[in-house]
Amino acid sequence: MILFAIELVFAAISSALSDEEHYDLAISSMVAGDMHSAVYHFERITSIDSHPQASFIYTNYATAIQAVGGGDGEEQLVSAIRHDETNVDAHFYLGILYQDGNNNFSAETCYKAALELDPFNWESSANLGAVYHDLGDFANAVDQFGNAIVLLEGELEPTNAPLGEKDRRSSLSDLHYRLGYSLLTYDPQDTKKCTLASSKAAVPCLALASNSFSRALQFNSENHAAEHLLSTLTKDSGMERASNEYVRQLFDEYSTNFENSLVNDLKYDGFRRVRGAFDRVSPKRKKRLYSRAIDIGCGTGLLGVEFRNVTKHLTGVDLSSKILEEAIRTRPGLYDSVFTGDAIEALSEIGPFDLVIAADSLIYIGDLTDLFSAVAGSLWDATSLFVFSLEKCSKKTVQALGANDWKFNLQPSGRFCHNDRTVHKMIKEANMVVERYESMEAFRSEGGKPVDGHIFVARLR
Ligand SMILES: C[S@@+](CC[C@H](N)C(=O)[O-])C[C@H]1O[C@@H](n2cnc3c(N)ncnc32)[C@H](O)[C@@H]1O
Repeated sequence: MILFAIELVFAAISSALSDEEHYDLAISSMVAGDMHSAVYHFERITSIDSHPQASFIYTNYATAIQAVGGGDGEEQLVSAIRHDETNVDAHFYLGILYQDGNNNFSAETCYKAALELDPFNWESSANLGAVYHDLGDFANAVDQFGNAIVLLEGELEPTNAPLGEKDRRSSLSDLHYRLGYSLLTYDPQDTKKCTLASSKAAVPCLALASNSFSRALQFNSENHAAEHLLSTLTKDSGMERASNEYVRQLFDEYSTNFENSLVNDLKYDGFRRVRGAFDRVSPKRKKRLYSRAIDIGCGTGLLGVEFRNVTKHLTGVDLSSKILEEAIRTRPGLYDSVFTGDAIEALSEIGPFDLVIAADSLIYIGDLTDLFSAVAGSLWDATSLFVFSLEKCSKKTVQALGANDWKFNLQPSGRFCHNDRTVHKMIKEANMVVERYESMEAFRSEGGKPVDGHIFVARLR
């Protein structure tokens, strides 16, 4: 009752305030970090359109609305630009909004507008680079990341420069990594030359990519993604698997957009194909209900969904705690239990299992010997199954590798592709036998090109 009375008084006072007072209170609330109060006052300005600061008000209104989860702020940002086409922030924020919504072409327009108005806006350049990368336009991505680096590294005074040296180094590490990754995707076969914003000389793209990953590491020695991709370029012959830190960092960062990017952008359907191969092993097995299954490198649960109806108990294992959180958030109850950590650790600690499944996750391990022996050690009996997918190496790589006894190859993508002959051999050495082998054409795409894979269904001998 008392609360209701207070609200009435507050409403009466508020309604007596002028637009100018609401505007001042909205801005001071924002400064104080009280976004709910800011939205309250923005909503009560009777005519923003007639206010001399309309564009600025709409931009802040959008920020406040987004902060309280009251909308995406698109309408306000569009209004801000309508009132003042030179409002750089409005173009930039609208770009972020479109980019987050995977509307890359509209995001491109916004970031370009922001950069035309403010060529020192390094964040617009960085985001525009990411937009071009996602669109498969690597030449422009390279230009934009290069430009953002020039702005942050040089003597210039970029707009919204990172506040401290630590943040500046971290941003530069990330930018160099992204630049390297675009150079790598731009020219994985080292046939072209690339030119960076910082120098006019045309250099083989892969040499520039190596340099970018080294620079990324100089700015942040904990940048495991840069470390790993640098190894792919220097063809570290001793590298038998990606480091767990690299995989964890990659998927932690990727977690919220992981499934959208994998399924919608990269057209990944390996999880369905793995289930199909499992069904084709034998109709008798198809009717079996397994007791304890483990999904290795489960990600957000795409494969788990496919196998949920053939097992009483399902455990999801992943190195990335963030991706497991995403699996639990988006598919509550799919996994009866989850394990955060390495697959080998999980197999030995929480086995045995009568079904082990893995789609698109063993591609971060080159030499599968230890993993296979951990799987064999965790399988219940000879009727238990191990179903997994791997990437195939491209024809070009296979030709380059020559002889037949090679095991795996570390690709420019940072993932391993495997030779089916030696996988068969390794399975045998782990005291298992392959019951079914299937090729899996175009189960995902990479830089606009299809990636081929293969599926193995194995059991204990
Ligand atoms: C490309 S995703 C595939 C996810 C899922 N299996 C699917 O088909 O959608 C690869 C996942 O494997 C996980 N992963 C890679 N190596 C791993 C390892 N050694 N142990 C546990 N998880 C691993 C990664 O963290 C990532 O979530």
